[in-house]
Amino acid sequence: MNVDGSVAIVTGGGRGIGAAIAQALAAAGAHVVVADLDGDAAAAVAAAIGDDRAATGVRANVASVADLEDLIAAAEHEYGPVDIFCANAGIAGASGLPDDDDWDAAIEINLMAHIRAARLLLPSWLERGRGYFVTTASAAGLLAEVGLASYSVTKHGAVAFAEWLAITYGDRGVRVSCLCPMAVNTRMLTDSVSAEDSVAAAGARVTLASGDVVEPDVVADHVLAAIAAETFLILPHPEVLTYFRRKADDYDRWLRGMRRLAASTATA
Ligand SMILES: NC(=O)c1ccc[n+]([C@@H]2O[C@H](COP(=O)([O-])OP(=O)(O)OC[C@H]3O[C@@H](n4cnc5c(N)ncnc54)[C@H](O)[C@@H]3O)[C@@H](O)[C@H]2O)c1
Repeated sequence: MNVDGSVAIVTGGGRGIGAAIAQALAAAGAHVVVADLDGDAAAAVAAAIGDDRAATGVRANVASVADLEDLIAAAEHEYGPVDIFCANAGIAGASGLPDDDDWDAAIEINLMAHIRAARLLLPSWLERGRGYFVTTASAAGLLAEVGLASYSVTKHGAVAFAEWLAITYGDRGVRVSCLCPMAVNTRMLTDSVSAEDSVAAAGARVTLASGDVVEPDVVADHVLAAIAAETFLILPHPEVLTYFRRKADDYDRWLRGMRRLAASTATA
């Protein structure tokens, strides 16, 4: 899709990967609505995009259906029909096998928010024969995140939902890309590394030990390239494809390797 002149929403755009995607979309000529639970952060990112570019910051909790409805309505009111929706807001969730409240939060933010946004946008996208859903999942959605059950499960769900959207609506003009990075230099990563919770910290150390830490603007460049080429899988860490192939090739061998990785990093 040609981004120039399009209307885009980026959730979790107040910092990190979302802020970088919002900036890259705006630089490519999109009108961008930056949405975040932290309204001040969203407004600051929109303001930093500059007066010569169209960007607006909106406070929105993606776990709220009403907020998602208001967000899409605000984008339409400000710039016109939404062409690109980046479902990027996410939380790492609690470690281990957390209680139901923690599972609910991870499911609502990392998965249900994507499903609800798609439900709201699809009627207009199908009518116009045009729409782009960009899922920020994780390498954990293709592989696994050591120590974080709810993160692994919800990110797998996000990948599965992105696949389903592409399969079901791909022939009707709806495009889908799915971002699956390993470590990216954002607050989510640094918070987990410094977490007092040893399981979460071990998980973050596994992520760090497993590949290079990529900067958010590099990730955003990959996202823009995928939108231009209309390709599904976005892998800022190309080795994820090798690990994914190994997993499919011999699941038990892959599980043994993951157990070794988890054990070695937990004691590091
Ligand atoms: N940083 C990494 O290493 C990494 C790796 C793979 C995938 N990801 C994914 O990338 C996405 C962005 O993460 P990040 O690393 O930039 O993290 P981050 O914590 O720096 O930023 C996340 C942003 O989402 C916002 N947010 C959280 N809950 C929200 C909600 N309910 N409604 C609206 N906004 C909300 C936060 O306020 C924050 O601004 C997440 O989905 C994350 O799972 C991150």
